[in-house]
Amino acid sequence: MNFYVMTLFPDMINNAMSESITGRAIKSGYINVNAVNIRDFADNKHNRVDDYPYGGGAGMVMQAEPVYMCYKHICEKIQSTKPLHVVYLTPQGKTFNQKMAAEYAHEENLIFLCGHYEGIDERVIEEIVTDFVSIGDYVLTGGELPALVMMDTISRLVPGVLNNCISAYTESFSENLLEYPQYTRPENWRGKSVPPILLSGHHKKLAEWYREQSVIRTALFRPDLLKKAELTEKEKELVDKVVRHGEQI
Ligand code: ADE
Repeated sequence: MNFYVMTLFPDMINNAMSESITGRAIKSGYINVNAVNIRDFADNKHNRVDDYPYGGGAGMVMQAEPVYMCYKHICEKIQSTKPLHVVYLTPQGKTFNQKMAAEYAHEENLIFLCGHYEGIDERVIEEIVTDFVSIGDYVLTGGELPALVMMDTISRLVPGVLNNCISAYTESFSENLLEYPQYTRPENWRGKSVPPILLSGHHKKLAEWYREQSVIRTALFRPDLLKKAELTEKEKELVDKVVRHGEQI
């Protein structure tokens, strides 16, 4: 998986991606991160890439040409015959979720466009962007953090990135259920014991417990997700009970 990020702040991208699991994935060659500085494509001696908005108003707008030249440079590097996804990070986009991450994880190359200031000249957006993506209903100062959120989420779905290959799929949001609670040593921590089932070694019962805990958590914290989850009749009864009795269950 090759990520290309058009940005005015390449250090933000490189620094964050070089840590932890994504850092290891880069070193092992499972993912590649290329942060390309839009400023390198400025056509003036002051390296300016923004200007005043036509019509007036507060703030500056990123100019079309440096963004376009940056995009062309990346296309030349990729030399793909397949159509490329160019993702523009914007609060106006479709809200990012796990399903979208799983779809993007199949791509060989992904290009992100990070805006700053009050935005980017609409004409270059029309020309190069294929996907508009938001990470939530709030406004950030730029597209770098959203691009990092997307790359992190997508990376861990790329085969080989997580050493435990099942874990990417047994956790929150797979099957529209939240993940069950986890425990580690000591067995008794400040008077709180680990649920006995976890010490039983009974694999079938354990799997049932995990599933039940996922259903209970989802009913408590994200009941909206349950509309899309496939539940047995017994699990639906459990959901009703949780909704009626809250945390008492
Ligand atoms: N740029 C600024 N805010 C954003 C958001 N919430 N999602 C994606 N890109 C953004």
